[in-house]
Amino acid sequence: MSSNPIGIFDSGVGGTSIWKEIHQLLPNEDTIYLADSKYAPYGPKGKKRIIELSIKNTELLLSKNCKLIVVACNTATTNAIDYLRKTYDVPFIGIEPAIKPAALSTKTKSIGILATKGTLSSELFHKTSDLYANGIEIIERVGEGLVPLVEEGKIESKEAKTLLKKYIDPMLQANIDYLVLGCTHYPYLIPVIKDLLPEGVSIIDSGEAVAKQTKAVLEQNNLLNTSSTEAENHFYTNDNPEVIQSLIGDAFKAEYLDF
Ligand code: DGL
Repeated sequence: MSSNPIGIFDSGVGGTSIWKEIHQLLPNEDTIYLADSKYAPYGPKGKKRIIELSIKNTELLLSKNCKLIVVACNTATTNAIDYLRKTYDVPFIGIEPAIKPAALSTKTKSIGILATKGTLSSELFHKTSDLYANGIEIIERVGEGLVPLVEEGKIESKEAKTLLKKYIDPMLQANIDYLVLGCTHYPYLIPVIKDLLPEGVSIIDSGEAVAKQTKAVLEQNNLLNTSSTEAENHFYTNDNPEVIQSLIGDAFKAEYLDF
């Protein structure tokens, strides 16, 4: 079992930002990544539909014998992970906006969160933000339109810059010193975001924490792959593989799969 692959899914290409962190920390582990780009974005969809899509992705990964599943999507985590954990036997790792480190570190007592509508309206997100909101202003913005731009590979585009400015300006007016990226597509926009942020505003995302948690849960379950054979990394998309290919680089190969 420990030599079986780690399964990872996202609504599309964004979760490759999480795959990179996992692969860096656990280079011996085989991985199977699913980019559900045909159905992206998940953000504007309702909870029921997000659960249905998460089930579809999970069952495909389980049919490929994955030993653990990383839900590399804040929207799917905050809406579907409870259901997935209750329904399937493998361990699940989720990703949520990193409110806690931002809330514990802020000096201005004001933090910004950019995420999808599905994440910001979820019960899980409200629970976490209520827990840390004490004395801290949390400025939330739905990053509407950003996921489709990343899916189309329009990362350093004028459209991306215009949208980001619209979402981030009110946060800067509220004097944030931390900007939490609550969607796994957004780390790819960091070059544009950095240009919009004054010095003194830090960006936080959850990628590294997810990789560490994945390692810890593999260890707890005796599932860490201890073999020294070179790992296999498979990337499947149900849309044009061009964009995901450009994000993972030439050392890896993205393939089309109908799912
Ligand atoms: N990467 C997903 C997330 O982390 C994007 C959601 C979407 O498809 O809207 O929330």
